[in-house]
Amino acid sequence: MKHRLLFIASLSAVLFTLAACSKDEGSDTPLYQHDTIEYDASRKILVAYFSWSGNTQHLAQAIADATGADLFRIETVNPYPTNYNECTEVAREELDNGIRPELNGTVEDFDGYDVVFVGCPVWWHTAPMAVWSFLESPEYDFSDKIVVPFCTYASTYREETLARIVELTPGAIHLRGFGTTGRNTAGVEDWLRTIRIIP
Ligand SMILES: Cc1cc2nc3c(=O)[nH]c(=O)nc-3n(C[C@H](O)[C@H](O)[C@H](O)COP(=O)(O)O)c2cc1C
Repeated sequence: MKHRLLFIASLSAVLFTLAACSKDEGSDTPLYQHDTIEYDASRKILVAYFSWSGNTQHLAQAIADATGADLFRIETVNPYPTNYNECTEVAREELDNGIRPELNGTVEDFDGYDVVFVGCPVWWHTAPMAVWSFLESPEYDFSDKIVVPFCTYASTYREETLARIVELTPGAIHLRGFGTTGRNTAGVEDWLRTIRIIP
C-alpha cells in the first residue's frame, strides 16, 4: 500500500512537471518524432505561410533564403480587416465557430515537394483558421512529407501554435519547429542546421 501511494505520488509529480513544462514558452514540447534527419541536398522544399502584418512573411523569406525553398503565401478570398481590433474580432469569431475561410490559389506541383515548412502568426493562442483551411485542404497530402512548423508571436502561445500545425498534418514526419517575436530572425540558420535541412 505504502509503495502504491509512493508510486502514485511520484507519477503525479512527473505529470505535473510535464504539464508545467508544456506551458513554459522556452521549452521544447515533445511534438516531433525526429529532432533531426540526414542532410540531403536533393530535397525540394516549400515554405507555405500565412501573414497578416508581415512578420511571418519576413521569417518565411529568411527560411527560403537560407534553404533555396519556393515560397507560397496562404491567402483568404475575403481579406482580413486591416484594422487591428477588427481583425482580432474576425479571427476570434472564426476560431470560436470553427470556420475554415476559403483560400485563394493553390500550390503548384505540391506532390513534388519533400519538405514543407508551414508558418503563421499566433492568433488567439493558436494558428489562424486560414492555416487550418490550408492544412485540411483535400488538394494536399502531407503524409510522408517532412513538415516543419514555424511561427511569429508577440509574447505567448508559441508552442501551442507549433503543436497545432503538427496536429493538422498527421502522418507527416515532423521536425523541431521555430518561433520568434516580431521580425527577429536571429537563430534561423542555426535552427535549420540543427535539424539538418541545411548542411
Ligand atoms: C488576431 C490576432 C491575434 C493575436 N493573438 C496573439 C496571441 O495569442 N499571442 C501572441 O503572442 N500574439 C498574438 N498576436 C500577435 C501576433 O502573433 C504577432 O504580432 C505576429 O508576429 C504577427 O505576424 P504577421 O505580421 O505575420 O501577421 C495576435 C495578433 C492578431 C492580429
